[in-house]
Order: sequence, then structure tokens, then C-alpha cells
Amino acid sequence: MKKRAPSYETQELREFAEVLRGRRTIELFLQTPVPGELVDEAIETATWAPNHHVTEPWRFILPGDESVQRILDLCRRIVKEKKGAERAEHKRDSWSQKPGWLIVTCQRSDDELRQKEDYAACSVAVQNFMLHLWKAGVGSKWTTGDITRDPRFMEIIGVDESDAFVVGLIWFGYPKLTPSQSRKGLADVVFRLP
Ligand SMILES: Cc1cc2nc3c(=O)[nH]c(=O)nc-3n(C[C@H](O)[C@H](O)[C@H](O)COP(=O)(O)O)c2cc1C
Repeated sequence: MKKRAPSYETQELREFAEVLRGRRTIELFLQTPVPGELVDEAIETATWAPNHHVTEPWRFILPGDESVQRILDLCRRIVKEKKGAERAEHKRDSWSQKPGWLIVTCQRSDDELRQKEDYAACSVAVQNFMLHLWKAGVGSKWTTGDITRDPRFMEIIGVDESDAFVVGLIWFGYPKLTPSQSRKGLADVVFRLP
């Protein structure tokens, strides 16, 4: 008699997939503060990301109010240099509405393959962080704008550019609005070989 494959269809699995698929990049946040313990737990979840040779290449920087103000001022200065004073004020205002700030960095390596793999590991860590928060009702946005490569930003976050680089500036908070998204179907992205 043929043995039946064990059923993988469980409510728990469906709910888990729902969390993974339902996470969206959030632009607009409520001003409700996110509990610090939740953020710490999400960072701990981030550190459980796979990382080749267990290099643990990530660092997590939580800027306080003073540092956020310095980042906002730098944002205004950078936009003013490129796009003028009006756009700069607008951008500073919109950034000042972001309730939670996290900067994730990756340690530098002279070995090209290791650097690639470490960056991949840091990206997975960011995703773990965002998904942990998402399950708790907290949204986030991963950004890699010009500012994250500016030496003045590195100075504010206290990172020596020869030691590490920024993987992302992550804003987080309770979503004001959750946008919808679409994805290609499996037929467009899966290639089954004989
Ligand atoms: C490495 C990385 C960098 C990103 N940088 C930016 C960014 O600078 N600005 C931005 O608007 N979105 C940025 N995003 C977010 C993507 O635009 C977003 O994930 C994409 O639109 C898909 O939307 P979803 O996250 O809701 O699925 C970044 C995402 C990743 C993975």
C-alpha cells in the first residue's frame, strides 16, 4: 500500500505565510511609539538570520532624539544642495514624521565572496527584523537613499567607513496606511529542470 505524504497544510503554516506575504513597505506611520522591548526582541530575531561561517557581520544602531535631529538636519542640507530649499524643508518635515529609526550596518571584508555573503546575511537580518515587527502590527520601510552613503551620515552614526557600510536605514512604526502590491506569478519566476 502506498504511504500518504504527511499533510503540511496547517492553519499555523497558512498564518505564517500570511505574515510573510502580507508585509508591505510602509510610508505613513501613526505617531504611537513602538515599545522599546519589542524593538529589542525584533533585533534579537534579526541576529538569528543565517550567516555563512557565522560571521555575524551586522550591527544595529538605534539613534536617540539628538542623533535623529542631526540626521534630519543633514537630510535637509543634502536635499538643499541638490534640489533647493523648498524641497529640502518638505523632505525634512516628512522624515521628522518617522517614529522609529534603526540603521543596520555590515562589517567590511577584504574577501569579495565573504563580503557578498555577509551583505546577504545582513539583508536577511533586516527582513527578520521587519517580519518580527510586522507580526506585532508594526510596519517598516527599508531605505538606501544617498544619505546612507554620505560620510557626514557615517560620522553621525559613529561608524568608521573603513570598518563597515550601511545596509539600510529602517523606519518603523504603526502603519497609518498599508498599500497593496502585486507580484509575478510562479510561471514567470520558477524554472523546473528535468
Ligand atoms: C535593499 C533595499 C533597498 C531599498 N531602498 C529603498 C529606498 O531607498 N527607497 C524606497 O522608497 N524604497 C526602498 N526599498 C523598498 C522597496 O522599494 C520595496 O520593498 C518594494 O517597493 C516592494 O514593496 P514591499 O516591500 O511592500 O513588498 C528598498 C528595499 C530593499 C530590499
